[in-house]
Amino acid sequence: MKEWLEKINNANSLEVLENLRVETLGKKGVITAEFAKMKSIPSEEKKAFAENLNKMKSEVTTAIEDKKVVLEKEALEKKLIEDKIDVTRFNNTPSGAAFHPVAFTMDRIINYFQNLNFAVEEGPLVEDDFHNFEALNLPKYHPARDMQDTFYNKDYTLLRTHTSPVQIRTMLSQKTPIRMIAPGTVFRRDYDLTHTPMFHQIEALVVDEADKISFANLKHVLVEFLHHMFGDVDVRFRPSFFPFTEPSAEVDISCVFCKGDGCRVCSQTGWLEVLGCGVVDENVFKAVGYEGKSGYAFGLGVERFAMLIHNIGDLRSLFESDLRLLGQFK
Ligand code: DAH
Repeated sequence: MKEWLEKINNANSLEVLENLRVETLGKKGVITAEFAKMKSIPSEEKKAFAENLNKMKSEVTTAIEDKKVVLEKEALEKKLIEDKIDVTRFNNTPSGAAFHPVAFTMDRIINYFQNLNFAVEEGPLVEDDFHNFEALNLPKYHPARDMQDTFYNKDYTLLRTHTSPVQIRTMLSQKTPIRMIAPGTVFRRDYDLTHTPMFHQIEALVVDEADKISFANLKHVLVEFLHHMFGDVDVRFRPSFFPFTEPSAEVDISCVFCKGDGCRVCSQTGWLEVLGCGVVDENVFKAVGYEGKSGYAFGLGVERFAMLIHNIGDLRSLFESDLRLLGQFK
């Protein structure tokens, strides 16, 4: 028995120890075989034989259990050393940074219009009623104010609901000719698959002397722009209403997913609405003290463009900072 105890004691791995357990206590193990001999032992010797055998069995069992604890501890310590993370190690293959799809789309659009000599203008995010509504031909209690769910502050300022107020600020501070875009953040009380309370728009305004600017100019600029952004798509102008333009239109492109056949994204219509536009309303010119001018304007949602270009299904995913989404834009 001594030699078994020695073997157990010298076992250098859990595997060796397990083999020893099988060889001693297993079904065909040496100790198990001894128990089988009980039948043939004369009854007067049985008691002593059994006592001796049980003692052997418990000694071997204890030895194996004790050794197991030691070997398991050793294995754990070895694993901890092997798995240790060296936080001082320098990473020679850093993962490249990437632009957020909204920033990337915004830059593309700004670049396009800068190349056409449009100036980039800015305005405050906290606006007042005059710039955000009144001067844009949206008087108080006008039903068209309901088109935009506004965040109001206690002091009657508000978070701008669109980038159109930058039109007003630019006309109030500059002389014609004006050719500007206003990219920026806007806010509305809205939250679902296609709306977030914060999003981005790009506004455009072109103003010059009366009769110099027409709907035809607007149409040409927009068709060229949409081809630049979406490739070979059909573009259509659909009569619509905006308080600050007359006439007004909404602009659709043929669906970039089904090429106009009709699918889930375009609600089977074959068309996707991408922006609003029109000829500047006379009342807007009056509000900023312009006389004898003509102009056009348009406004678009940057997230909408980014979603259509990159085939992103849920607008909200753009603002969750999930690296699994962002990693796809490297
Ligand atoms: N401000 C409008 C909106 O937020 C977008 C817009 C439509 C701007 C037509 C314009 C325009 O300048 O002419 O929904």
